[in-house]
Amino acid sequence: MCGIVGYIGTRPAVSILLQGLKRLEYRGYDSSGVAFVTEGGKVEICKSEGKLENIQKLLNPPGQAQLKATCGIGHTRWATHGKPTTQNAHPHRAGHVVLIHNGIIENYQELKKEIIERGHKPLSETDSELFGFLVLDEMESGLGLADSVRKTFTRLQGGNSVVVMSEKESGVVVGVRNGSPLVVANDPEGGAILASDAQPILEFTRKVIFLEHGDLVVATKDGIEVFDLVSGKKVDRKSTELDWSVDKLDKGGYPHYMLKEIYEQPTALVDTMNGILDKMSTVPFTLAQQPGIQILEQASEIHLVACGTSYYGAMEGKYWLETWARMPVHVELASEFRYRKPVFRPGSVVIGISQSGETADTLAVLREVRSHKIPTLGITNVRGSSIVREADAVFFTSAGPEIGVAATKSFTTQLMMFLMLSGHLAKKRNPGMVDELFSDLVHLPHLVALLLEDESGFRKAISSAAKALANSTGFFFIGRGYSFPIALEGALKLKEIAYVHAEGYAAGELKHGPIAMIDPSITVVVLAPKDQWRDKTVSNLEEVKARGAKILGIGTAGDHLLERLCDYWIPISQSTHESLMPFFLTPAVQLLSYDIAVLHGTDVDKPRNLAKSVTVE
Ligand code: F6R
Repeated sequence: MCGIVGYIGTRPAVSILLQGLKRLEYRGYDSSGVAFVTEGGKVEICKSEGKLENIQKLLNPPGQAQLKATCGIGHTRWATHGKPTTQNAHPHRAGHVVLIHNGIIENYQELKKEIIERGHKPLSETDSELFGFLVLDEMESGLGLADSVRKTFTRLQGGNSVVVMSEKESGVVVGVRNGSPLVVANDPEGGAILASDAQPILEFTRKVIFLEHGDLVVATKDGIEVFDLVSGKKVDRKSTELDWSVDKLDKGGYPHYMLKEIYEQPTALVDTMNGILDKMSTVPFTLAQQPGIQILEQASEIHLVACGTSYYGAMEGKYWLETWARMPVHVELASEFRYRKPVFRPGSVVIGISQSGETADTLAVLREVRSHKIPTLGITNVRGSSIVREADAVFFTSAGPEIGVAATKSFTTQLMMFLMLSGHLAKKRNPGMVDELFSDLVHLPHLVALLLEDESGFRKAISSAAKALANSTGFFFIGRGYSFPIALEGALKLKEIAYVHAEGYAAGELKHGPIAMIDPSITVVVLAPKDQWRDKTVSNLEEVKARGAKILGIGTAGDHLLERLCDYWIPISQSTHESLMPFFLTPAVQLLSYDIAVLHGTDVDKPRNLAKSVTVE
């Protein structure tokens, strides 16, 4: 959702802001803007609805003031209060105060009334602009910028982060994190950079500070200082050295980030495995000691809570935790769970799964559950994200930055994390049972790489099927057992990036209603590798075939019986433990959706209406 960048230093601010906003585009936005301080201390604002290119055009050719500016702020807005118009785009000006904002000011109506009564005239429909007037009034009464921001910020209700400048103090940029994340770093050449995530900062340094909830940062040409928002006292925040490299932020020769990220899955799986295994141990599934392990080991039942693709990751996790660790597991949609009255038993543990670590519903569940003293864990891909604050302990996947809005490698690394946790618990409860699984798991990333590299078999089969089926009026993805969550994920991928209607179903459920939809304009994608469920799935397939649907099969190479039933066939020739088949099925459904989306000409990396991290309810 909204992206924030701020810079003060010695380099050209506007190009840094534009480049930073480009890095944040993946979060989803519908308008953007920058503000920069001219040599005379005045602030100029340039903003527009639509894509970032619109403001790039407006800023071209650059004037002298723009070229010389070394301080400024920039924003990409994902509309919540007010339409995505130029007027509502950030930065907003209130007199000499200029600001950008991410979050929702929940008491904005009451603040708006007060501000209008004081004689101010807000120009936009946003809640954000109101904060500027509050700061302005404090500065007019004699306070400095940082103190004014501090004093007024405490009046805001809801989760909000802001970055503010003033023409009265043109050498200062003040930021507050109180909800949505804010990352800051000293520019090694002098000055500082602030952003909603680390990606715009990696160009300058890998040493970043993830501000904590309730931190206020003052950035000047001399660097950053962090203060406690409430007490105003200086606080010491340790910096984190990121292992993400800047080349991960480029497309690396691929036409889309999503495709690149699909192909990065083998590396991401290895990194995730290495990130959690105890490297000194040769015993399968021995995980490095960390606070989360203890909580997990004491659990007698687990609630997995997530949204979207992460929810499907959790569904897959349930199969493994039940099968391998014999752990009772409940899988819950965060948006439902948070408003239910769930029953917890002694030993219940709640795990929130969120690749971004910022999903509002998932965070709200953890916050609520933790307040009742139920132990909580998180699984995320983003160090420093809000889930780290909301859960008692967090397990990190190591997918690296994922820029395509549609989750790909962040999903498969969640699967890897669930397998590692399941294996660890199973090892404790059933020593010996997991050895075979582990030895296949060690080879898994290599096998996934081989599958992806199989241009003439696997990849060609997918692109031919995509070409033939792209114009189907609808798709059903079906599977049983380990393949069922991947069927759901396949349908979601197709919907979100190709805008094609698709549904995922447990294969055994089709005859309970959806089969009425089946006719020759419908494609059924059947996920049926050779496993304990394959024969049952094939029977379900016969039922839809008899009713004229086109069938695309994804199964084990050499399964001629199944292949003959299918109109199109994607073979998986890698053989492995049946628990690990989801790691091969997933790239198949990802690439199928990708190819269909490209054929439909959609914006694959930034599908319409979607945001990478959903920070509102
Ligand atoms: C789909 C997708 C979304 C997210 C969902 C939850 O490709 O990415 O469905 O999975 O918005 O996001 P996180 O995992 O960040 O909580």
